[in-house]
Amino acid sequence: MTRALFDAAFEAARDWHTALPALGAFCDWPDGARFADRPAVAVPAITHLQANPGAATAASQALCTALIDLAPYVEWRHTYTESEVGADFLQRYGWFELIGPDGHYLSDQVRMTIGFWGAGLVYGRHQHLPEELYSVVSGAADFMLDGAETLRLSAGDTRLHPSNQPHALTTTTDPILTFVIWRGDGLADAPRMTKE
Ligand SMILES: [Fe+2]
Repeated sequence: MTRALFDAAFEAARDWHTALPALGAFCDWPDGARFADRPAVAVPAITHLQANPGAATAASQALCTALIDLAPYVEWRHTYTESEVGADFLQRYGWFELIGPDGHYLSDQVRMTIGFWGAGLVYGRHQHLPEELYSVVSGAADFMLDGAETLRLSAGDTRLHPSNQPHALTTTTDPILTFVIWRGDGLADAPRMTKE
């Protein structure tokens, strides 16, 4: 049953939130998030995720597997246009909202999304009002943040992006699968590319 796959991913995400102290410090697990029947929207990145999610750890493997199993059934999104990020980027990138104002589970308290990027992609500087905490489920990437040092993150690592602080992400030889939390005002906003 598809619903069972959603609930398995929800539970695995909750376990991940419990396992990583930085996630629990950033926000509580949302109360009363209820399942919403949203249509599946496929993106080409599903195939890439299933073929190679990148290296997980013992702690992240359950979430990684649950997300790969769920991938054909979620409402994937792109946010950006081809003119903004290029055709190759759109072939090998996608995200979906697991929990949030427009998520597969509805909550107004936080927004929890899953993002995937294939190897060798540059996600340029962008920003958004909500504070953001990335956690890496599998794979690796270089995380840039204005005013801070660039860090290569792999499974189990986290990075905080302050409100409207431009940041960017580059994958090199590995893809990356991420679990991302937004908190604060503007949870239903889209990120936007930084102008300067
Ligand atoms: Fe962001």
